[in-house]
Amino acid sequence: MNEVIGSDHEFHDKNFVAGWADRFVPTPVHAIVSTWALHDLGNKENIYVVYKRCAQVLRHGGIFLNGDFIKPDKAIYEYEPGRFEIVKHIELMRDVGFKKAECLIVLEEEIESPTAAQNYACLKATV
Ligand SMILES: C[S@@+](CC[C@H](N)C(=O)[O-])C[C@H]1O[C@@H](n2cnc3c(N)ncnc32)[C@H](O)[C@@H]1O
Repeated sequence: MNEVIGSDHEFHDKNFVAGWADRFVPTPVHAIVSTWALHDLGNKENIYVVYKRCAQVLRHGGIFLNGDFIKPDKAIYEYEPGRFEIVKHIELMRDVGFKKAECLIVLEEEIESPTAAQNYACLKATV
C-alpha cells in the first residue's frame, strides 16, 4: 500500500479512493507526489476522485506530480482501463480544478511490443 505522509512525518496506509484525504491530510499541503500507483485504481473514475481530492487539499501554488503508466498516443493494443492517454489525464486534471496541467516527460515509449513496465509519463498540475 502507498503512504500519505503527514507534516509530522507519520506514514498512513490508506485507500486512495475511499476518502483517503478526509481525515489524515494536514493542511496546507504544498506538494503531492505519486509514483506508479494511480493506474492500479482501475479506471478513470477512481483516478478522477483522487485528482479532485488532490486539487482540493493543495494550497494555492501547490504542486501535484504524478509519475505513472499511460497508454501511448499511437497505441496499437488495448491497455488496462487505469492506463489511458496523457491528454485524458490532463483533461481530468483541469476538470477537477487544477489551473495548469502538463506532461513533463514521456519515458520508455514502446508501441510495437510494450511490456507492462514501459510507457510511463510524469504529469505536473498546479492549483
Ligand atoms: C506499482 S505499486 C507502486 C508503489 C510505489 N508508489 C512505488 O513507486 O514504488 C502500486 C501501489 O498502489 C497500491 N494501491 C493500489 N490500489 C490502491 C488504493 N485503492 N489505495 C491505496 N493504494 C493502492 C498498491 O498496494 C501498490 O503498493
